[in-house]
Amino acid sequence: MKHYLSINDIDSLPVWVDEAITLKKDPYQFKELGKQKTICLLFFNNSLRTRLSTQKAAIHLGMEVMIMNFGSEGWALEFGDGTLMDQGTSEHIKEAARVVSEYCDIIAIRAFAGLKDKAKDEAEEVLNGFAKYASIPVVNMESSVGHPLQAFADAITIAEHGTKSKPKVVLSWAPHPKALPHAVANSFVEMMKLQDAEFVITHPEGYELNHEITKGCKIEYNQKKALENADFVYVKNWSSYTDYGKVLSKDLDWTMTQEKLGKAKFMHCLPVRRNIVVEDAVLDGNQSLVLDQANNRVFSAQLVLKKLLEDIK
Ligand code: CP
Repeated sequence: MKHYLSINDIDSLPVWVDEAITLKKDPYQFKELGKQKTICLLFFNNSLRTRLSTQKAAIHLGMEVMIMNFGSEGWALEFGDGTLMDQGTSEHIKEAARVVSEYCDIIAIRAFAGLKDKAKDEAEEVLNGFAKYASIPVVNMESSVGHPLQAFADAITIAEHGTKSKPKVVLSWAPHPKALPHAVANSFVEMMKLQDAEFVITHPEGYELNHEITKGCKIEYNQKKALENADFVYVKNWSSYTDYGKVLSKDLDWTMTQEKLGKAKFMHCLPVRRNIVVEDAVLDGNQSLVLDQANNRVFSAQLVLKKLLEDIK
């Protein structure tokens, strides 16, 4: 594997899930693999789980870790080819990516969608810029359109808590006061398309995700109907994709409640707004898997880093 940029870089999801569950039993088993190797984590946006779990994963593999809050501490990057750089940008991605490649063996990047310009966000200029010009592997720690480390952790969590060979999994939109990106939902959908499951997406009209990603998935606009007999309910807010980046609804009727959840397991990537996205009773109850998901972020990242280290010549 050259880079881990999307869930589609996973060659076999069931095999990877089994390998991650095995890693979890003995996290330091491969501590020699990353000896004298360095990972650089570059954050253009905030993080709790991604930052700490990726760092912990690297520690398990014996790696050194460098972290930079690039968004607030790095030079403003230029991405255009042939740009006359007489405006706000100070350094071109060509130099930045090549320079970071001199200091480490793997680069991991978080750079969210701006939600102002769909074409610009979908071009993934930060992630793809690093992947294009770096001479070392690049890992996506959440980009404009995907969060594949989260989705892989979610696949591990579903495998660990499933009781059926073909569970019913529902991705339900929830209200939120702010406009949020589509990355988590996109990667979750892509991951579910690799699973043997009855998968349903539910959201208010106007919140359709990118059809290229949801193609072939069942979409049910009636949340109650979608939730019937669910085994796992994954709740997430995203802003409108069609009316790009807009908040069209804050309807609290879509908030996940214990009553609506029924006997299903509750999933959310976190951070979560209590009593807006989901009520306290769900998060504090024993059907919530949010801490399992957060824990599995370590082993999701660790398996990705292990595979990249094994392929570094
Ligand atoms: N789920 C997730 O990526 O959390 P952070 O934004 O805190 O890293």
